[in-house]
Amino acid sequence: MPDTHKRVGVLISGRGSNMVSLAEAAQAPGYPAEIALVISNIPDVAGLDRARSFGIATATIDHRPFGRDREAFERAVDELLRVNQIDLVVLAGFMRILTPWFVKRWEGRMINIHPSLLPLFKGTHTHRQALEAGASEHGCSVHFVVPELDAGPVILQAKVPVLPGDDEETLSQRVLVEEHKLYPAALADVASGRARLAGDVVIRA
Ligand code: GAR
Repeated sequence: MPDTHKRVGVLISGRGSNMVSLAEAAQAPGYPAEIALVISNIPDVAGLDRARSFGIATATIDHRPFGRDREAFERAVDELLRVNQIDLVVLAGFMRILTPWFVKRWEGRMINIHPSLLPLFKGTHTHRQALEAGASEHGCSVHFVVPELDAGPVILQAKVPVLPGDDEETLSQRVLVEEHKLYPAALADVASGRARLAGDVVIRA
C-alpha cells in the first residue's frame, strides 16, 4: 500500500447512497483510500446493509440513549474510529450536528457533502430553498468540517441547472447524480494530500 492510503470511517444516518459511491470508487486500483468502517447513528438503516454488501465493517451508535449529551455520543463514535485506526472521517448524509469538541479532534481530517452550492442554502431542505429562491442553478459541495454548520472551506463543487417544472424530487435527483461523482473525487483529493485544510482555506498541491 502506498503511504497515502487512508483508512476512512463514514458516518451515515440513512440510505447511504453517497457511501456506496465512495465504496465503489475505493475498489479501483490506486484509489488512495479504503472505506474501513461505516457508523450509523440510527439503527437498521438501509445504508448499513449496503455497506455490509461491500464487506465493510459496520456499527450503530444510537444517539438517543445519550439524550442531550452530544459529546458523550461523540466520545463513543470517536473511540470506535480510533480503535479502527481511522485516518479520515467522511460525513455522508449524517444528520447530527457535531460539537466543537469532535470537530476539533478531526480538524482537517473530516469532510462533508452538502446538497447546495455553498455558501447558498445551508441547513436542511436545500432543494426547496433553491426552488423558493428562484435559483437558475443549484448543486452540491464537499467541504472540510468546521464548528459552524455548513460553513467549512469548499474542496469541490458541482453545478446542475434548475429546469422549468422542477420540484424537490426532480431537482434532488439531478443533484444526487452529481454528488455520487463529486464525493469520490473530493475524497481522493484529501486522501492523497492534493487538497488540505490550512486555517480557513483549502490549499491545493
Ligand atoms: C445527500 O443528498 C446529502 O448531500 C445530504 O443528505 C443526502 C444523503 O443521502 N446531506 C445533507 O443534507 C447534510 N446536511 P445518502 O444517505 O443517500 O447519501
